[in-house]
Amino acid sequence: MERTGPIIVALDFDSRRAAEAVVDRLGDECRFYKVGLELLTAAGPDLVRRLAAQGHEVFLDLKLFEIPNSVAGAVRAAGALGASMVTVHSMGGTGIMAAAVAAARDFPRLRVLALTVVTSMTGTDLADIGIGNSAEEQVLRLAGLAEKAGCHGVIASPQEIAPLRGMLGPDSLIVTPGVTLPGESRGGHARPGTPRTAIAAGASYIVVGRSVTRAADPATALQRVRSAAGL
Ligand code: C5P
Repeated sequence: MERTGPIIVALDFDSRRAAEAVVDRLGDECRFYKVGLELLTAAGPDLVRRLAAQGHEVFLDLKLFEIPNSVAGAVRAAGALGASMVTVHSMGGTGIMAAAVAAARDFPRLRVLALTVVTSMTGTDLADIGIGNSAEEQVLRLAGLAEKAGCHGVIASPQEIAPLRGMLGPDSLIVTPGVTLPGESRGGHARPGTPRTAIAAGASYIVVGRSVTRAADPATALQRVRSAAGL
């Protein structure tokens, strides 16, 4: 396994130059990067091709929520770029998740992950959009749908990992953003956890952004995350 093991670094930048500067500084310390909508829109898909061609794994965080035909097309495009992971919104229902899974079959390394409830949302936010469940109940409900649709795993906050692992069993991927180091600010995460609690609860991967990418020395910061995770 690469040095970073189950740690994915989120390249949340508004330019290719800024993203590549961090990738250069991390060097062999990191092999798995998340590219989200900001960087994809600002820098273009060629950045994803380049990262993949350099031997990196790329989690393309597209958070797809569209009609099944459009979701399938976007998943095929992600696969053609060389992405290893792509996200689809589980709140879009079984149809779009199944369409994403079917489209990914042509790309053996591409895994489809269902986004459950984003980590900035609380039970109050769910009530505002007419959902009476708690965040945890909603995450488990959506994860059940994702599993039936054939998704390879789910995205959820650190606080739902343990019940999710119990429900999904050992083979599903559970990818967890919302991880902060002890003593750090929550960074907009409503349901945060530490790297150690996330890994101990059964996360397959943790996604870390600003703690690493905005650090004066990203490689040292990544090592700190790794040791905070007990890795
Ligand atoms: O907070 P951090 O910079 O570590 O964020 C890394 C990733 O976690 C982001 O790219 C985003 O997708 C996700 N995130 C989230 N909820 C938040 C903040 C970030 O899911 N409140």
